[in-house]
Amino acid sequence: MRPRAWPVPPVPEDTGPGLTAMVTAATQLLTQAGVPSPRHDAVAIAAHLLGLPTLSLVTAGPPPDGFARSYAEAVDRRRRREPLQHIVGSTAFRYVTLLVEPGVFVPRPETEVLAGLAVDEVRALAAGGLAPLVVDLCCGAGPIGVSVAVETSATVVMVDRSTQAVDLAARNARACDRPQVSAVVGDVRDPQLLSELTGRVDVLTANPPYIPPDAEPVDPEVRDHDPDLALYGGGVDGLDLPRAVLQAAARLLRPGGLLLMEHAEVQAQAVRADAAATAGFIGIRTEPDLTGRPRLLVARRTAGTGSAA
Ligand SMILES: C[S@@+](CC[C@H](N)C(=O)[O-])C[C@H]1O[C@@H](n2cnc3c(N)ncnc32)[C@H](O)[C@@H]1O
Repeated sequence: MRPRAWPVPPVPEDTGPGLTAMVTAATQLLTQAGVPSPRHDAVAIAAHLLGLPTLSLVTAGPPPDGFARSYAEAVDRRRRREPLQHIVGSTAFRYVTLLVEPGVFVPRPETEVLAGLAVDEVRALAAGGLAPLVVDLCCGAGPIGVSVAVETSATVVMVDRSTQAVDLAARNARACDRPQVSAVVGDVRDPQLLSELTGRVDVLTANPPYIPPDAEPVDPEVRDHDPDLALYGGGVDGLDLPRAVLQAAARLLRPGGLLLMEHAEVQAQAVRADAAATAGFIGIRTEPDLTGRPRLLVARRTAGTGSAA
C-alpha cells in the first residue's frame, strides 16, 4: 500500500524572514553598534512588540503583518543607543515592573541593594510592632519607594524636584496598587521640606544626583538620555546634593532612624566624612552594591541632636 499523502499547507511566497532570522540579524546590528547586551535587547524588543514574555518567543508562530517594519524601526532606535527601557517603556526592579519614560532617570539594578536594606529595616521595625514611616528623597520613577511599599506595610513619602518624575512615581505606585505611598514635588535643599515629618521618619532613602561637573558619562544611553537634573550633583565634587540629603536626613529622621544613600564608588570616603561632619549620625559605614563596589552610605541618627559620633 502506498503511504497516505497528507495535505501540505501552501507556503505563501512573500512570508519574509522568520522571527529567529530577524532576531539574529538585529543582534548583529546591535553588536556592531556597541550595544552591551545585543542578543538580550534584540529578544526583548521582539517580545515587547509581540506582547509576549521573552520565553514564549521560542514557541511563537509567524510574526503578524507589519511586525518586520516596526521591529526594524525599534531596533534602529536601540542601534542609535536609545535606552532599551525607553523603547519597551518599562523596567524590572526587584519584584515590580516600573513604567519608564524619557525625561526621567532609568532605575538601575544596582539600586536594588539599597531598596533591600530599607525593606529589611522596615520589616524589623514592623516585627517590633511599629508602623514605619519611610521617606525616599530624589525618587525619580519611584523604584525604591514603590518597592518598599510593595514589600512591606510601611507608609512611604517619595520626593523629587522634577514634576515629571513625581507624576511617573505616582503612576508606578498606583499601578502596584499601593495607596500608602505618595509622591510630592520638593527640593532636597529646602530646609522646610516635609517639615511636618521632622524627627518622625524611621528610614530615609536617597539615590541623589552625584556626578561631578567635569565627569561626563561615557555610555550614550546615560549621557544623551538621562536628564542632567538626575545626574549632576553640584559643586566641584558632585556632592552638593548628597550633602543636602545628609542635612535633610539629620532633620527628618527620628532618633535611631536609618539613612541609606547611594553615591559613586570613588566618593565613599568623602561621603562618610560628610556624614561624620553632619551633626547627628553614628554607625557610619559603606556597603557594597550588586556588583560589589562600595556605593552605599549607611548611618543612624543619634539619640540626641547635635552629637555626631
Ligand atoms: C540619580 S536619579 C535617581 C532616581 C531614583 N531614586 C532611582 O534610583 O532611580 C536622581 C533624582 O534626583 C532628582 N533631583 C535632582 N535634584 C533634586 C533636588 N534638588 N531635590 C530633589 N530631587 C532632585 C532628579 O530629578 C532625579 O529624579
